[in-house]
Amino acid sequence: MILQASNCKQQRIYQELMPMQLCHPCLAVYGILLLLCWPFACAHAYASQSRLVPGKPLSPGSVVVSQDGVFALGFFSTDGDGEKRQRHYVGIWYNSIPERTVVWVSNRAAPITTNLSSANLAVTSSSGIVLSDSDGRAVWTTNKSISISASASASTVEAVLDNTDNFILRSLADSAILWQSFDHPTDTLLPGMNLRLSHKTLPLQHLVSWKGQQDPSPGEFSYGADPSNLLRCFAWNGSRPHRRSPVWTSHLYMGGFNESAIYMALHHAGDEVYMSFGMPAGSFVQLVRLEIDYSGKVNILSWQSNMSAWRALYAEPQHECNTYGYCGPYGYCDNTQIVPVCKCLDGFEPRDAKGWISGSFSQGCRPKEVPRCTHGDSFLAFPGMKVPDKFLRVPSRSFDECTEECRSNCSCVAYAYSKMSNIDIDGDDTRCLLWIGDFIDMENNHQGGENLYVRTKRLPPHPP
Ligand SMILES: *[C@@H]1O[C@H](CO)[C@@H](O)[C@H](O)[C@H]1NC(C)=O
Ligand SMILES: *[C@@H]1O[C@H](CO)[C@@H](O)[C@H](O)[C@H]1NC(C)=O
Ligand SMILES: *[C@@H]1O[C@H](CO)[C@@H](O)[C@H](O)[C@H]1NC(C)=O
Ligand SMILES: *[C@@H]1O[C@H](CO)[C@@H](O)[C@H](O)[C@H]1NC(C)=O
Ligand SMILES: *[C@@H]1O[C@H](CO)[C@@H](O)[C@H](O)[C@H]1NC(C)=O
Ligand SMILES: *[C@@H]1O[C@H](CO)[C@@H](O)[C@H](O)[C@H]1NC(C)=O
Repeated sequence: MILQASNCKQQRIYQELMPMQLCHPCLAVYGILLLLCWPFACAHAYASQSRLVPGKPLSPGSVVVSQDGVFALGFFSTDGDGEKRQRHYVGIWYNSIPERTVVWVSNRAAPITTNLSSANLAVTSSSGIVLSDSDGRAVWTTNKSISISASASASTVEAVLDNTDNFILRSLADSAILWQSFDHPTDTLLPGMNLRLSHKTLPLQHLVSWKGQQDPSPGEFSYGADPSNLLRCFAWNGSRPHRRSPVWTSHLYMGGFNESAIYMALHHAGDEVYMSFGMPAGSFVQLVRLEIDYSGKVNILSWQSNMSAWRALYAEPQHECNTYGYCGPYGYCDNTQIVPVCKCLDGFEPRDAKGWISGSFSQGCRPKEVPRCTHGDSFLAFPGMKVPDKFLRVPSRSFDECTEECRSNCSCVAYAYSKMSNIDIDGDDTRCLLWIGDFIDMENNHQGGENLYVRTKRLPPHPP
């Protein structure tokens, strides 16, 4: 995602962006940046414009800049991970930071591989936005035929890059949005973007990783939700789960960082569900992005202007142990160890003891005693858990009703309960989860997580 820095108009914009309280320790850094970049700024400053209109295409070397100066759209090139021939793309990056960080790519699957001498990005009344190579071939288009009334001139459309990074094609007559890049995310989710997880009519959205560090073409990894069960998100490796997010609880826990800095939100309206994330007003974090990287990691990164680098607030999976189902059925990844390791829950033992010792965990664990269900069974609470996948949600239950729901059904091996204060599903903010059978992909943590109540034969000293 990070390409060679080449745009150097940043220092002016920095000063506009930085709140006063952050500026103090950074003045020296500004000075250095200024010195480093000044020669480039003079030599390579892009011609910038605020919008794209019919008849005035964007050429390589020019950029469209958002009104606040944070984002720029234009041509960029990569070496395509070791290949000799350069590939050229049109994308959006942060105009305001020295490290070229691309957040959206139009023609990721169709790079221009010939020279760029007369390539351009044009707005036309017939096809919307069209990227053409030097031979005039359209390599990418929004495919939006715009019906313009006979009397209206072709200049009734324009394309603008707004301050949230959304590249919008709109009709000037009625300001109607004809096409927008937010509907076609690539590997990055930014504050203000909604990732469509479920919808009656519109297609669902995923983030799709780059193929390599320098290769924007669609890679193996993707990120999104499973529309059949929206209570968690996945990173997939092809069609297989690679990493599962914790199940949404009352606070939308992402793990590993100060939650007040970043929030995740799920917007539920019947069948239509969107996910978004952002910062509360007045947050110290200025620039933040969520990406699925080429190696399958889901990262939330914030720009540290004092260090001029992206810092990961969240990066998962961190270890092999954190990948989906690594510790097998009834096994969990113990993240409280220096190096996370697979363990069995109390009362369970490795199914394949030899394999377990040699680091083969896929067989998972089994109960030490043969289960024999009685109504007197009690539950042992395991705190701090990322609860397993393959749960069944029973709607509208209190905590006690949820416990009873599990106790009274001998197939139920565990339950977890939460009140969801930020989201509800059809007006129901309770979250009673039961596990019937499958019990896969568990972790525990120092902080965060929730109680998992597992059926046990060991009766507590004073049964309730
Ligand atoms: C670039 O490509 C165009 C069209 O393919 C060609 O006419 C031109 O000579 C090329 N220029 C260079 C410098 O290769
Ligand atoms: C969109 O445009 C591309 C050419 O860039 C073409 O191959 C494709 O068939 C078009 N799709 C639709 C739905 O018109
Ligand atoms: C992704 O899946 C492929 C096989 O489908 C596997 O070879 C590869 O190791 C997986 N990648 C990761 C990071 O798990
Ligand atoms: C998170 O940061 C805020 C503001 O900096 C602070 O008030 C709060 O105590 C922090 N919370 C935790 C859990 O560290
Ligand atoms: C940069 O600022 C962050 C807070 O915004 C602070 O935690 C960090 O220590 C600072 N780093 C340096 C090198 O000043
Ligand atoms: C236990 O719950 C499962 C899932 O709801 C259900 O299919 C099964 O019939 C229940 N068994 C009993 C004995 O109630």
